[in-house]
Amino acid sequence: MVSGEDDRIRLAWPDVGPVELDEVARVLRDGMLTMGPLVAEFETELARACETTRALAVSSGTAALHLAVLALGLEPGDEILVPAYTFPATANVVAFSGLRPVLVDVDPETMNIDPSRVEVGPRTKASMPVHIFGRPARVEELPDLPMIEDAAGALGARRQGRACGSLGLAACLSFHPRKIVTTGEGGAVTTNDEEIADKVAGLRNHGWRSLADADMPVPGLNYRLSDILCAVGLPQVRRLDELLAGRARIAAGYGERLAELPVVLPTVDEGDVHGWQAYVLQVDDRDRVLRELRAQGIEAQVGTFAVNLLAPYREQGSFPGAERVFERALALPFHTRLTESELDRVAAALGRSLAA
Ligand SMILES: Cc1ncc(COP(=O)(O)O)c(C=O)c1O
Repeated sequence: MVSGEDDRIRLAWPDVGPVELDEVARVLRDGMLTMGPLVAEFETELARACETTRALAVSSGTAALHLAVLALGLEPGDEILVPAYTFPATANVVAFSGLRPVLVDVDPETMNIDPSRVEVGPRTKASMPVHIFGRPARVEELPDLPMIEDAAGALGARRQGRACGSLGLAACLSFHPRKIVTTGEGGAVTTNDEEIADKVAGLRNHGWRSLADADMPVPGLNYRLSDILCAVGLPQVRRLDELLAGRARIAAGYGERLAELPVVLPTVDEGDVHGWQAYVLQVDDRDRVLRELRAQGIEAQVGTFAVNLLAPYREQGSFPGAERVFERALALPFHTRLTESELDRVAAALGRSLAA
């Protein structure tokens, strides 16, 4: 399947269509565009998928992380453990909340936080592991501290039988277009903790917990997600199993085709279910390979960032695992509309590039 005028193979292509359009039309007809019934319906489905009692829809994954961190109620200067290889939002929300993100190196094989690298100090108050690209992190090996899962790419993933999104005190989802369920922009906090849920519900709406409140109990923000966007996400989360199966099928298609190449393919621990947010392998000479794939109309991308190499976090020093993965990770085009012949084309182009 090509994108239209050319034979470009797109990096991502959300699995949305007429069902989502119908839901959006329903919202527009009803005229409740925000804080209406679709928000509640979307949240019910998200909580069901994450096996939590509560889900709170917010305007982005970053907003979800920000509110979850604020809801911890920590003191300025307190520290939160964050993997050194992640999308920078994980560290940024901590810094932005007047706290200190303490970077922890990742295992270069799993690309996830390496629990053996964790050092707990007197001010370490929480951890924020990331299930990178949908691969569940070994969160049970982390120290016994309040944990916020960055499950931005892990909706549908499972760790040893339990849903990612339910493994800690709270978890944060993203609905950016490269995620399995997308609303264009959007996110959610999931939790079994009523107090956290209540705080997040207030903070996303200027501090108000209910329309009936005359007073505003705390200062808050506007991080609400509109009913229009919840309408886009609702049918997708209802067919999450189908979406995940589709992505697993594409991942298996790559796995078969790339098995003999000199690459490190993405894997998952035995007993876990990968959430397949992205298909990210590791190669030598990644930048050249990336350039060559792109020159052939294949929209590959780097994985994500070694946060310690970015200006605000450089003083935290060197993290060899994160730096190695940052140099080597390569995200291939990954969405459910990829055809067998497109998978063949990507595999052949990668094979040629690696043989050069
Ligand atoms: C691991 C991780 N955390 C947080 C985010 C931020 O999510 P959003 O883009 O919805 O703000 C992303 C987005 O790509 C992510 O991959």
